[in-house]
Amino acid sequence: MSVKDILEKRRSVRHYDSNYKISSETLTALVDSASKSPNGNNIQATRYLIIEDANLRNLLLPIAFNQQQIVEASTLIVMLGDYQAFNKGNIIKIHEEGYQAGYFDESLRDYLANAAINYYESKTKEDLKLELTRDVSLASMSLVLLANEAGFDTITMSGYDSKKLKEILNISDRYLDVMLIAIGKGIKAGHKTVRHNVNKVIYKNEII
Ligand SMILES: Cc1cc2nc3c(=O)[nH]c(=O)nc-3n(C[C@H](O)[C@H](O)[C@H](O)COP(=O)(O)O)c2cc1C
Repeated sequence: MSVKDILEKRRSVRHYDSNYKISSETLTALVDSASKSPNGNNIQATRYLIIEDANLRNLLLPIAFNQQQIVEASTLIVMLGDYQAFNKGNIIKIHEEGYQAGYFDESLRDYLANAAINYYESKTKEDLKLELTRDVSLASMSLVLLANEAGFDTITMSGYDSKKLKEILNISDRYLDVMLIAIGKGIKAGHKTVRHNVNKVIYKNEII
């Protein structure tokens, strides 16, 4: 299926076959491809916390408005951004890896690494939160497209109590939780949704 076809046909699915399992190899392959998504300065801050444990899923259910996909979907992923990815050491390491792989020379390695370090240096925590939100959201969309291409159904979710989720899953403030993604085999099609006419969302040169 083309990307266009997936976008036209995909729906958020809220009811899943709880007996259906997605193999860990399949999931790893989906995440591996999603991790190729564009990300700021290639600092690779996105983390995929896969919640397999049924007890943990049950604990998450009430703090996510009892949305059944939390417990019924084959896979539940907490999409996280890692604030430590902004550290100088990580930025230098990643650019060194690119150099060692032969993708650029020393001068481009140093230029890119220094540009990234300078870019983040003056940013506030709020700025960095936005940076993580951008990167994790792009990876999330890739994962949704890839999962749908592989024949699964998906739903992205922000309907949960972030503080309680972090407590239950022991997620420290090193990480920003951006959204949850459930993946599995749907047993009830997602309802159709409308979209604005394209002319309502395109502006040229100025927006009013
Ligand atoms: C960031 C984000 C958070 C969402 N959170 C929820 C959620 O908590 N529960 C839910 O049922 N749907 C959630 N949705 C799904 C949207 O309601 C859905 O994408 C929208 O209504 C359009 O429908 P469609 O995805 O089927 O095209 C979320 C979508 C996004 C992008």
